[in-house]
Amino acid sequence: MYTQSFNVPDSPGGKPVPLAPSLEDPVLQAAFDARIDADGRIEPQDWMPEAYRKTLIRQISQHAHSEIVGMLPEGNWISRAPSLKRKAILIAKVQDEGGHGLYLYSAAETLGTSRDQMLEGLHSGRAKYSSIFNYPTLTWADVGVIGWLVDGAAIMNQIPLCRCSYGPYARAMVRVCKEESFHQRQGYEALLEMMTGTEEQKAMVQDAVNRWWWKCLAMFGPPDADSPNSAQGMRWGIKRVSNDELRQKFVDATVPQAKVLGVTLPDRDLKWNEERQHHDYGAIDWDEFWATVNGNGPCNKERLATRVKAHNEGQWVRDAALAHARKQQERKMKEAA
Ligand SMILES: [Fe+2]
Ligand SMILES: [Fe+2]
Repeated sequence: MYTQSFNVPDSPGGKPVPLAPSLEDPVLQAAFDARIDADGRIEPQDWMPEAYRKTLIRQISQHAHSEIVGMLPEGNWISRAPSLKRKAILIAKVQDEGGHGLYLYSAAETLGTSRDQMLEGLHSGRAKYSSIFNYPTLTWADVGVIGWLVDGAAIMNQIPLCRCSYGPYARAMVRVCKEESFHQRQGYEALLEMMTGTEEQKAMVQDAVNRWWWKCLAMFGPPDADSPNSAQGMRWGIKRVSNDELRQKFVDATVPQAKVLGVTLPDRDLKWNEERQHHDYGAIDWDEFWATVNGNGPCNKERLATRVKAHNEGQWVRDAALAHARKQQERKMKEAA
């Protein structure tokens, strides 16, 4: 579901570094550039610069990992959902996130990486995923706020990806975005209901908003001035809208929703700027963001350990599926003989 601008290097401790210029075939490069300039799509069989391929593999696999790890904080609440209706909705949402991960792993595989390689990167802690999932979900209100704000931020980030220059990624994002919009609505609706409840429930919603708001703003990634690869991503038609522009759109869209809901967004500097025709907002704590991205958030270790355990415990399912496929293949060959 989620994104944090997807240009964070997977190497340990890394902040973005500028890409080296391409030394590849100038004729092929010119044809590639012409297609990008004409806003055409690049497909798996097409020639593409190595840096474009590598950037996409990193971005799509980080995105896929984010979907899969994103199942964990909400999955924790399935057995504690307050009603059968909420449980059914939450199960559907968490299952959607698993599906998003699978589409995205498949899209990344078309670029020449394997699912095993990508999972090894995630499980060894080398690959990154959206830092938002390294925070705990303390109350039921967190589940609503994740839908409203985290999925809401994800939609802002992901809608432009439907126009990404790489065909398989763009096509995967069309369905993902439709499902994300259901995720956002279910979260907002759950919160609306809580806000018509007891004072305790209202306080629970406000507390969750206070804890998640700033982390959601950070999801759009570092300010444009600190994102050296953003310009290249834009040139390649991978990134269509800058981190700061997306963040601004999110703030502007969320302020009226918070008003309808009856919650306060925890930022004293948040106010309408008549001149800019946008909301101004306060400073984001980027040190906390980078600490979490680099493995030191409150739940990094727990999330990774849960993910690795689930993968290992699912080994027998993968083995059984492969054995079944092999048997069917053998049967078909025998019948054909
Ligand atoms: Fe989602
Ligand atoms: Fe998703």
